Amino acid sequence: MIDFLLNGQPRRCEATPDTSVLELLRETLGQTGTKEGCASGDCGACTVAIGEAGPDGRVRYHSANACITPAHQLQGRSLVTVEGLAQGEALHPAQAAMVACHASQCGFCTPGIVMSLFTLHEEQQQRPAPLTPERLEAALGGNLCRCTGYRPIRDAALSMGEPPWPRPGWLDRAVDASAQHQEPGADSAFVQPATLAELVEERRRHPEAPIVAGGTDLWLEVTQRLRRFERLVDVTRVAELTTIEEATLDDGREGWWIGGAVTYARLEPLLEAHYPAFAHLLHRLGSAQVRNRGTLGGNIANASPIGDTPPVLLALGGRLWLAGPGDAAEEAERELPLGDVFLDYKKTALREGEVIRAIFLPRPEPGRHLKVWKLSKRREDDISAVLGAFAWRLEDGVLRDVRLAFGGMAAIPKRAAAAEAALEGQPPTVACFQAARAALQNDFQPMSDVRGSAHYRALSAANLLERLRLVIGQQQAPTQDRDREVMLHAYAH
Ligand SMILES: Cc1cc2nc3c(=O)[nH]c(=O)nc-3n(C[C@H](O)[C@H](O)[C@H](O)COP(=O)(O)OP(=O)(O)OC[C@H]3O[C@@H](n4cnc5c(N)ncnc54)[C@H](O)[C@@H]3O)c2cc1C
Ligand code: FES
Ligand code: FES
Repeated sequence: MIDFLLNGQPRRCEATPDTSVLELLRETLGQTGTKEGCASGDCGACTVAIGEAGPDGRVRYHSANACITPAHQLQGRSLVTVEGLAQGEALHPAQAAMVACHASQCGFCTPGIVMSLFTLHEEQQQRPAPLTPERLEAALGGNLCRCTGYRPIRDAALSMGEPPWPRPGWLDRAVDASAQHQEPGADSAFVQPATLAELVEERRRHPEAPIVAGGTDLWLEVTQRLRRFERLVDVTRVAELTTIEEATLDDGREGWWIGGAVTYARLEPLLEAHYPAFAHLLHRLGSAQVRNRGTLGGNIANASPIGDTPPVLLALGGRLWLAGPGDAAEEAERELPLGDVFLDYKKTALREGEVIRAIFLPRPEPGRHLKVWKLSKRREDDISAVLGAFAWRLEDGVLRDVRLAFGGMAAIPKRAAAAEAALEGQPPTVACFQAARAALQNDFQPMSDVRGSAHYRALSAANLLERLRLVIGQQQAPTQDRDREVMLHAYAH
């Protein structure tokens, strides 16, 4: 049973574990304003807003793709759909602006666009900030429109005024805290543990039951491969998996343990503060809807060769903290360097029943640099063809601790050992980088697929190393030449 608010009205629904929010809305509740386009998180036609109370008790809304969001994750939350926005004759400012700017033609994408604008408007109400082109792109990058064209939609976003709209009180109403968790009863098929101990107990009893976090990978199994799930274990409410904690490892390295179920949206401020290059990558990872729900743990466990974060974490020396159902201490909890995690295509070193409790992100060291470049066919909401993540230090004019990691170049995200060896301890000269580019041929034999041919991938990986050489050269150059670096970056992004 799922207890939640739908546009302010309490609802109680039954659903199988693999029912999506979209199915629940359209098929069970007859709310057909939310549309199904792609059923895979790509088009945004199904965008809804999900609200939950933050630590300060205020309800905050995030946009989500209803087609790939498990209905059971609505438990104890407030769901807003396009049907809930107009108050009598008064349209929501997002709707009014879309009408005034002629931002809809066939209208199929419109409910989703309105809901993305609704969450942007809510954000503006809570933390007003200039609507920069970057913010608009981030807010709308997950919504496709085939016929209107984006200029009027953008105009609508920019002209959402102060509401003459009577804001309904239910938007600020949190669901009763006691309803935050479904009973983790033995027979419930969508299990929502609240603590690591409950999660581990569930894994002990049902190690075969798939884990779901944001569902942004797993749910495609339901919508694209028509797979049915009889039992699912939701990790998004496990306290230990949803925190970010400062930590010092046994080897003295400082950093953060990021809970396996921390979303990209929550991770972003930490990365903005400490790793701008990594934060920039997040802006290119999926869409706002995907970043609001997708997690670092899911990206790693999914073990896709084109997952965006593993190469960065490989370059930074990330680690995993795993928790398992075994009784022996070393089976219950263990740590692994990320480099030991990916074994083969979509195959990891995780044992049956193990979960990613947290991911270690080292604190940036003085003098150590990070660059991350993602190549994809489209800037917004597109999967990488090739991704390069490079970390290094320059010490007395030579390169030290060089770590070059790539996605899209092999069956797993992987470091380029031969290319690293060609650079380690060398000055960043043309000749050294030429040797590193040649060495890439020993590191990788990429494949051809829809995202890029083997030749394209090999050539672009080598070109990324050349870009790295130019960036390092600029860093060494006198200050007046550094403006050129800024330009180089502007073009690179
Ligand atoms: C439209 C769209 C665009 C996307 N764009 C990108 C992109 O640009 N770059 C990119 O890298 N990815 C992209 N993805 C993929 C996806 O968003 C990411 O991989 C995301 O990080 C997955 O996290 P999740 O929480 O949604 O995982 P889920 O789908 O919930 O789970 C994925 C897998 O990980 C397992 N799992 C989840 N959490 C844990 C845990 N704590 N311990 C053990 N196993 C676990 C699940 O059982 C499942 O097998 C995109 C997806 C969509 C739908
Ligand atoms: S239907 Fe396309 S994103 Fe959900
Ligand atoms: S108005 Fe037709 S797809 Fe956007």
